[in-house]
Amino acid sequence: MDIYLDTANEQEIEFASKYGFLAGITTNPSIISRENREFRQIIVDISSKINGEVWCQVTGETAEEMILEGREMSTWGKDIVIKLPMTEEGLSAAYQLKQEGIKVNMTLIYTLPQVVLAAKAGVDFISPYIGRMDDHAIDGLQFIKEAKEIIHQMHAETKVIGASIRNPQVVVELAKSGADAVTMPFYIFKKMFASDLTNIGLKGFLNDWNQYQSAKKSY
Ligand code: E4P
Repeated sequence: MDIYLDTANEQEIEFASKYGFLAGITTNPSIISRENREFRQIIVDISSKINGEVWCQVTGETAEEMILEGREMSTWGKDIVIKLPMTEEGLSAAYQLKQEGIKVNMTLIYTLPQVVLAAKAGVDFISPYIGRMDDHAIDGLQFIKEAKEIIHQMHAETKVIGASIRNPQVVVELAKSGADAVTMPFYIFKKMFASDLTNIGLKGFLNDWNQYQSAKKSY
């Protein structure tokens, strides 16, 4: 399962990049709006610093506007993925951008009929919003399994990326359920390291080691 970070924050990206396994950075208009910098510059900077994809989302309302934005954004870095909303206009724009060789993601996926259409249109990725589904009593993890099954049966190549992640256990469940990828906010990435037992165990080892070092002086 590929791991993406859902952020546009420079410090967070720098920290997570040290581990070398990030498949890329995903953004959306809300994430961009938290940075007090110009959109294009944010994406150009991220693209120059990471080895992987950078996902940026269109904000136009018609297919024509989205196509123009997507074409422009695709020039902002070496591996840009254009995010489009899963609407009639969005899927039409995605189809056109795909014809032009631009990678596309349908975002804000909430229903299985949307999955069928996106897979049929041959988009590269779909992002079901697991946390927001759970907020509305839709079983997000079950949705991912059914989306994967549909894509498999349709012989499509669309990848399923679990988005809107609210806790580390969801990442584990996604990995178990065969999701192709996950994108998580930085605070979840940090939480994935956490274990009190690891900390207690490490403290014990270091205490014993220090005692051994002190005792060694009297050997
Ligand atoms: C996905 O691409 C979105 O950027 C994101 O995962 C949305 O998450 P949220 O529900 O925490 O805003």
